[in-house]
Amino acid sequence: MATMADVARSAGVSVATVSHVLNGTRPVLPHTRQAVLDAIDALGYTPNTLARSLVTSRTRSIGLAVSAISNPYFTEILQGVETAALEAGYSLLIADPHDDPRHERKVVQLLHERRVDGMIIAPSADPHDLVGYLRRHGVPTVFLDRLIDTGTAEDLPPADTGAAAVSGAPRFDQVCAESAAPTARLVTHLAGRRHRRIGLIAGLPGLSTTGERVRGYRDGLAAAGLEYDARLLVSGNSESEGAERATAALLGLPDPPTAFVTANNAMTIGALRALRRQGRSVPDDLALCCFDDFAWADLFSPRLTAIAQPSRELGAQAVRLLLDRLAEPDRPARTVRLPCTFVHRTSCGCPEEPGRAEGAGSPASSTLSEKGTVS
Ligand code: HPA
Repeated sequence: MATMADVARSAGVSVATVSHVLNGTRPVLPHTRQAVLDAIDALGYTPNTLARSLVTSRTRSIGLAVSAISNPYFTEILQGVETAALEAGYSLLIADPHDDPRHERKVVQLLHERRVDGMIIAPSADPHDLVGYLRRHGVPTVFLDRLIDTGTAEDLPPADTGAAAVSGAPRFDQVCAESAAPTARLVTHLAGRRHRRIGLIAGLPGLSTTGERVRGYRDGLAAAGLEYDARLLVSGNSESEGAERATAALLGLPDPPTAFVTANNAMTIGALRALRRQGRSVPDDLALCCFDDFAWADLFSPRLTAIAQPSRELGAQAVRLLLDRLAEPDRPARTVRLPCTFVHRTSCGCPEEPGRAEGAGSPASSTLSEKGTVS
């Protein structure tokens, strides 16, 4: 098997130069670097990453802890993370904490013991132990999808977001999609179709995404001049079965809603099951708008009007934040928010050509905000 010394000899450079090319530890002139890469290729040299880690104290690996990996939203995030990590020469170690705080703490410790260079985590609703561990060990971490730190002017106060805000420095880098304004948009859209009783199937309490979508629901009602009725806000716990029960509860009210919003893709499936079991049809009996678009949302009949999250971009952005943190450990923490897209179809009750329903020339999908907010 070819060694580093063989590569150095073939490229006419020192072993140290080969090492700098492989580890990125010093700048190397482009033609020298190319000679080393050519020699590596010609000799079929395979670097021993374990030996390299002993020298650099870096493993060029990222730990990714994301619950519900089978959910298409998180699967797409994972694809975004994987592509960006690979481009930067990093491999991934992946764990699914199943939204269980104890399991989460355990898998993060295991990833840390494998000496990943940093972690990307979609935290559970109760991340205090996890955050304590990451702080004690100084693990470079980016929080994804669910906010932990809600401390800047741009962020929402904890009471509003429902986020398990963790007090005290240091703050963490975070990336998530906009949640409140897109949810409000769904509500005002339904109100614009003359619905006066609009329900929300909300997610798992304690997640920032849940809190923000609830706030968006209430903002949307207020913007449409509708009273908030607490009976129309039910928790589907972010999963299909919970949403099935929650939808049945809404339908069982003496004065049930005529339209409702589901706060994620899994809950949309549960809600549709409950409706089917009761023989109700969308949108004739109830209009429906969903947070989360997914590949087959336009194959349902009716086709689902939805908010599409920039899932791949969320994953890629998380990697960029982590690489910036690794390159500059003392840089100020950042929170990046990415815009969502309103995908206008027909489950809201609009006709097959939705452009006409919202005014001539309006597009079938529109971006809710133009830029990610960086704080
Ligand atoms: N957060 C945000 N969007 C989602 C989630 C989540 O946990 N699950 C499905 N869509």
